[in-house]
Amino acid sequence: MKRFVVLLASLLAVPALASAASLSERGAAWAQACAACHGPDGQSQGAIPALDRLPPEDLRAAMQAFRTGERQGTVMNYIARGLSEADVEAVAAYFARAQAP
Ligand code: HEC
Repeated sequence: MKRFVVLLASLLAVPALASAASLSERGAAWAQACAACHGPDGQSQGAIPALDRLPPEDLRAAMQAFRTGERQGTVMNYIARGLSEADVEAVAAYFARAQAP
């Protein structure tokens, strides 16, 4: 639980950095935060779903569903509420680029 709180605190620190940054810098900053659970560049090796093969429109739809509560997760409902539309756009674009062959 303590680790989770520390992680959430570090997630909340990202937007401050991101507000001044370009879309790609913002995407990279968020992807770093996601990497704690989803693996580097979303390449999860564990139980948490990988993001590197998720089409950007599916990532966007999932984040929207977590935010509204339409989709119930364990942690993603909290995390999705911490990202603005622009943040989701940026991180989806980041993972889409990471997917490119
Ligand atoms: C604290 C660990 C953690 C962090 C950090 C985290 N996630 Fe997740 N994510 C999960 C878990 C666990 C799930 C499975 C759903 C649930 O239980 O909430 C998930 C599911 C998802 C899904 C659905 C995947 C699918 O195939 O349906 C998406 C999309 C997603 N996360 C995006 C992100 C993004 C983007 C970030 C960074 C902004 C992020 N996550 C950060 C733990 C995390």
